[in-house]
Amino acid sequence: MSWIDLGPLDAVPERGARIVKTRAGCIALFRTGPDEVFAASNTCPHKGGPLSEGIVHGRQVTCPLHNWVFDLETGEAQGADRGRIATYPLRIVQGRILIDGNSLAVDRAA
Ligand code: FES
Repeated sequence: MSWIDLGPLDAVPERGARIVKTRAGCIALFRTGPDEVFAASNTCPHKGGPLSEGIVHGRQVTCPLHNWVFDLETGEAQGADRGRIATYPLRIVQGRILIDGNSLAVDRAA
């Protein structure tokens, strides 16, 4: 794996999100706890809602448009809703967020 530095952990608000630009397009970083961040598509598969503007709770995010809920680990829609967002492997090393560069192939872009 080749790891790409996306910036400091502290740049992502706790229980919030931030958009970062990658070679696969913009993706969202969701911070679910002091040392826990997930990377996923920013675009809701329902009608394109901006997930980074949704509510982060537990390890999930709720879309701000129609309240679909996505598991940030698997990307799967929860409950009765059907759909999935792309997720990307991350590591945190010395307070920096690193993403697996191999996961950013263009055909995986959301
Ligand atoms: S656009 Fe996200 S739930 Fe409708």
